[in-house]
Amino acid sequence: MQTYKIAIALIAIGTTALAHGGVKNKDVLARMEGMTALADQVKVIGRMMKGEAAFDAAAANAALQAISDEAESIPALFETEAQDPKSETLPLVWEEFDDFEQQALGLERSTAELSGSISAPADLRPAMKAVSAACSGCHEVYRE
Ligand code: HEC
Repeated sequence: MQTYKIAIALIAIGTTALAHGGVKNKDVLARMEGMTALADQVKVIGRMMKGEAAFDAAAANAALQAISDEAESIPALFETEAQDPKSETLPLVWEEFDDFEQQALGLERSTAELSGSISAPADLRPAMKAVSAACSGCHEVYRE
C-alpha cells in the first residue's frame, strides 16, 4: 500500500478502533473505552508517583474523582450481555451481576473518598495501592 493510502486508512479507522483493534460490537467497544478511560486516569497518578511527572495535588485529586465518576458508569456499560471475540469479559459477570456491581461501587466509593486526600507526594502511593486493589479485585474474578 502506498504511504498516502495507509495514512488515509488510519485516519478513517480513528484512534478508538486502533486501541481495541477489530472490535465490532458497539457495546463491547463502549465498555473497553470506559476501562481505557479509567486506566488513563490511573496513569496520571502513576506518572507522578514514579517522578515522571511533576507532583500536582489538584491533578491527582481530579484524577481520583474522574475514576469515581467513570466507575459509576461501569454497571450500565456491562448491563447488556454483549460478546466479541476480542472481549475479555467472562460470562460470570452476567451470572453474578449484583456482585459485579458491588465491585464497581467499591471502586467508585474508595476513589471518591481518596479524592481530596492528596496533598503531598507521599500520599500518592497509598492512594495508588487502594485504586489498583479495586481494579484487580474485579479483574481477577470477571476478566479472562
Ligand atoms: C467491576 C469490575 C471492574 C472494575 C472495578 C475494573 N475493571 Fe477493568 N475490566 C473489567 C472487565 C470485565 C474487563 C474486560 C472488558 C472486555 O474485554 O470486554 C476489563 C478490561 C479492562 C481493560 C482493557 C480494556 C480493553 O481495551 O480491552 C483495562 C485497561 C482496564 N480494565 C483497566 C481498569 C482499571 C485501571 C481499573 C481501576 C481503576 C478497572 N479496570 C476496574 C472489569 C472491571
